Amino acid sequence: MTFLKVFAFSLLSLLVFTVFANILPQVQSDPPKEETLDTGSMDMAGMIAFGERLFRGKGTCTLCHNELGRAPDMLNLDLTADFASRLADPAYAGAAKGKTGARAFEIYIRESMQDPSIYVVPGFGKKGTNDTVSPMPRVDAPPIELTEVEMNAVIAFLQDRAGVKPTVPLPSAEEAPAAEPAATAQEEDTGPLTDPVEIIDSYGCAACHDLNGSEADLGPDLRGVGTRLSREEIARAIYDPDATIAEGYEPGIMPQDFGERMRVSELNLLVDYLASLK
Ligand code: HEC
Ligand code: HEC
Repeated sequence: MTFLKVFAFSLLSLLVFTVFANILPQVQSDPPKEETLDTGSMDMAGMIAFGERLFRGKGTCTLCHNELGRAPDMLNLDLTADFASRLADPAYAGAAKGKTGARAFEIYIRESMQDPSIYVVPGFGKKGTNDTVSPMPRVDAPPIELTEVEMNAVIAFLQDRAGVKPTVPLPSAEEAPAAEPAATAQEEDTGPLTDPVEIIDSYGCAACHDLNGSEADLGPDLRGVGTRLSREEIARAIYDPDATIAEGYEPGIMPQDFGERMRVSELNLLVDYLASLK
């Protein structure tokens, strides 16, 4: 009898969960994961592949570099021509000025990541700055915080796409510990994230919103969002961003796929957390 009750209860819970889970847009893929780096044995092909995963994952580059038009769509553009024309632009005053070739691309990409305003691609500057200030955050600082080795991998990936031979160094064996073994061991388990701050980090929200002091301003400041929006409005803003557009901001910038990429439990935690920011 007890067994039957337990069984019936389990079945009911499962049903309720399934129905609930299907009301919200779902959730197949896992959140971006931290990478383990077996640097001892990494060759350039491995480095390029690692760079691509970082570009789409931890680096959160595709949040902005996509077909929505907020930043150059680097995965679909002809980087060979683009990078060459940046270097030849009289407005470019970085360290690769007047240079050409693979090494010049390396310098240009590294500058773009560490000091985005050194050169702003025309038309992509922060509003009202006449293309003198880039809206791109430094990727070696929080919230993105790529390591030296990771930036090299991203450079190798982009150099490869631009049709030149990567010039970055391969990571040495000593650099292997940079892979944060403890954190990585946890991430191996692909279960949902349970800490809202981690969820924000892993989905790159602070690259566009001022959260945790990131000072990003592509999207509205979310400190105190709980006083402006209800729980439901916040949830909607995340899984269907273009349904309502915050005043003074443009549609089509916030990624549309959080509803698919996030687990329901993560979305709930995140919404609770944001609603609590008064
Ligand atoms: C919050 C949005 C955002 C994120 C995240 C972002 N970028 Fe950018 N990025 C931009 C914008 C906007 C530009 C164009 C303005 C400029 O030149 O700085 C740009 C420009 C660049 C350029 C120069 C492109 C060109 O056509 O000359 C490179 C290279 C670049 N980003 C690399 C990266 C990499 C690598 C990452 C991830 C590690 C990244 N970006 C993350 C917004 C972003
Ligand atoms: C590539 C930039 C970008 C990223 C990444 C991004 N957002 Fe946004 N977000 C925006 C923009 C732009 C708006 C304003 C336009 C709109 O309302 O859709 C916005 C609007 C919002 C709003 C509504 C705010 C208001 O005042 O109405 C919320 C809530 C929000 N985002 C939460 C998030 C969360 C949570 C994440 C991470 C899971 C995230 N955003 C990631 C750009 C971004």
